Amino acid sequence: MSETDYPLLESQYRAIVGGEQDALANSSNFVGLLFNALDDINWLGIYVLRGDELVLGPFQGKPACVRIALGKGVCGTAAASLETQRVADVHAFPGHIVCDADSRSEIVLPLVVDGKLIGVLDIDSPSPDRFSAADQAGIESLCRALCETLSQAPGFI
Ligand code: SME
Repeated sequence: MSETDYPLLESQYRAIVGGEQDALANSSNFVGLLFNALDDINWLGIYVLRGDELVLGPFQGKPACVRIALGKGVCGTAAASLETQRVADVHAFPGHIVCDADSRSEIVLPLVVDGKLIGVLDIDSPSPDRFSAADQAGIESLCRALCETLSQAPGFI
């Protein structure tokens, strides 16, 4: 599997955004860009924080569960802890929520805009241990770029 060029992806995302300020449009393009650029993934999308639960937002992949409570599953754990969850084997993660039975490993990153949690980015792979520490660093950097563009938008999604 080839190494992903995360700095290139970030500049591509910034070029796509240009001066656009619409959060739904920008986050949808972010998801489309990453889903097509990353090897060996079967689902990639954003869950948006609405009240005290996460609600399905822009995504690519099979239809997925719509609502996830804070603290539940990999997504809810990332949201509640504000820490990236990099899970090498989803079957070993207590409380993992199965959306696509093909998923074997997963990474979920909190999205924080102006100091507030607005949602999470969730990426699933059909291969065990798909996401390295380098992938985590690269995707965290991409999420910072996403959040920067969303902070200029009036209200998220
Ligand atoms: N596996 C996630 C649920 C979302 S789907 O993977 C798209 C979780 O445990 O939170």
